[in-house]
Amino acid sequence: MTLAPGGEPCGKIPTVRRMNSHLEIAPSILAADFAALGDAVRAIEAGGAELIHVDVMDGHFVPNISIGIPVVESLRKATRLPLDVHLMIEHPDRYVDAFADAGADTLIIHQEVSYHLQRSLAAIRNRNLRVGVAINPATPIHTLSEVLDQVDTVLVMSVNPGFGGQKFLPGSLHKLRKLRETREQMGFSYRLEVDGGVGLDTIPEIVRAGGEILVAGTSVFHTKDPAEAVRKLRQSGTEALTQRV
Ligand code: DX5
Ligand code: ZN
Repeated sequence: MTLAPGGEPCGKIPTVRRMNSHLEIAPSILAADFAALGDAVRAIEAGGAELIHVDVMDGHFVPNISIGIPVVESLRKATRLPLDVHLMIEHPDRYVDAFADAGADTLIIHQEVSYHLQRSLAAIRNRNLRVGVAINPATPIHTLSEVLDQVDTVLVMSVNPGFGGQKFLPGSLHKLRKLRETREQMGFSYRLEVDGGVGLDTIPEIVRAGGEILVAGTSVFHTKDPAEAVRKLRQSGTEALTQRV
């Protein structure tokens, strides 16, 4: 086997998952310059991001087209950070194997496109990936009640999916509170992820409501210093939690 300079097998870099804080910052590369993704990855690694959020859009489920399997493959070779792949696509089951082979760590699928949600989630689990389910702003959380024991992540969309740079919808906050409460009552173990309009202005109320994995596109990459932006988001979130107790 060929080894890279650090002793790792070439082209297949094992991921590390840093859990040094309760909060995890997951920059969304949707807001990065796609011609310089390597630079974007290095910057957010320097800022201590825990995950890289990858937004896959098909032009059907959402009115936009973004990136797909080859980009996940390239990212896998460029970073050890876990790849948090958010599938905003119809028929996600058809692509589970391809994204697993490409190097995704978490696959998040939408409740709204899954006729057989339980089966789709099980297909992700069968590939030994972390299993995520997402809901749009208009989708009530009770639609997830029968699968909450089967997922590692519940992603609450705080904008209508399809585009970066939208305004945070505060209606997502009550969903976070309720999902946190349900987790405590039922002994479930999912993490609560929030996606859309996450920035320094919204992060305090998000983390107080229960948000733990914070997806941030614009507020990281549309700044002069994305590494510093990641640090500030974490600091702001951590401070808001400290103030709560
Ligand atoms: C929206 C995507 C988000 C998006 C967030 O459809 O799922 O991940 O990149 O972008 P910001 O942080 O700019 O709202
Ligand atoms: Zn996303």
